[in-house]
Parts: sequence; C-alpha cells; structure tokens
Amino acid sequence: MNIILVGFMGSGKTTIARIISKKHSMKFVDTDKLIEKQQNLTIGEIFDKKGENYFREIEKNFILDYLSFCDNCVIATGGGMPCFFNNMENLKKIGWVVYLKTDFETAKKRAMLSKNRPLFKDEKKAKNLFKRRVICYSKAHFTVDANREKKLTINEIEKMLF
Ligand code: S3P
Repeated sequence: MNIILVGFMGSGKTTIARIISKKHSMKFVDTDKLIEKQQNLTIGEIFDKKGENYFREIEKNFILDYLSFCDNCVIATGGGMPCFFNNMENLKKIGWVVYLKTDFETAKKRAMLSKNRPLFKDEKKAKNLFKRRVICYSKAHFTVDANREKKLTINEIEKMLF
C-alpha cells in the first residue's frame, strides 16, 4: 500500500508523511526533495532559472518514472503536483490519496515557518491560488481536517487506512 498526501503549502504534508512512515515502517518520499536532488537545484532556483512550466513537467514525469514504482511508501507531494495534467488521476492509481485540508490562515502560518516557497511570496496571489486548489484537492480519495494538532490528523488517517 502507498499513501499520498496532497494539500496546500503549509498543510503539513511533509511532517505528517514522515511520522506515519516511521510509525508503520514505510518508506518516506518527499517529491520536492527528490526533484531538488535530481535537478541539483533548489525548488526556488528551478522556478527562477527554468520557470514554473518546466517544474510542472518534471513533476509529471516524476510521478510516471518514480512514484509509479513506490511500494509501501508515504509520499509527501509538492502542493501543486496533483493539480496539473492528469496527475491527480495518476496519483490515485498509485495509492490512497489523502487531502490534508486546512484553512488559508493555518497554511500561511505554517508555510512561513519553513522553507522558501516561490508561490507564497505574494499573499494575495497565494490566497487566490488556495481557492482554486481546493477544487483540485477535493478529488482525492479522502479528506481530513488538518487544522488541528497533527496527532489528531494522523489518528484519523490511521483509522481510515490501517
Ligand atoms: C508548490 C508547492 C511547493 C513546491 C513548489 C510549488 C505549489 O511544495 O512544490 O514551491 O505549487 O503549491 P510544498 O507544498 O511542499 O510547499
């Protein structure tokens, strides 16, 4: 079984994927991290030097060439990954897709704490993007409330999938 976490920047995908993978002896996969390694550039550099379209192509190929071969993985996706091309449908073939649903303010608070995110530089634009993305994420197999303490979110995912 594979578990694939989707949701907006700052929804907690990486943190929660890491915890679940450890607890259940599954492999942890962070698509942004692996793409950075593969390209030898940070996500910010990819956006700056090659542009967003290039990044989306890489994400699409990453699903087909890498994620399709995952077995017993908990996958933290980049926030936009399921929302381009046929990616959501392809992800759903690989495993259970779980949408970590937060409100915008929660995502913003968390996103500010960690890594540099090119699409979160302008708050107004990020809020618009958030609204559009909700429609895409809602096509996941499951939706969990991720505004809460992460323990509660994890419990809910475990009840559904284990
Ligand atoms: C993006 C989210 C980021 C990263 C890139 C684009 C997006 O991942 O893939 O900056 O389009 O929402 P996180 O959701 O892990 O921040």
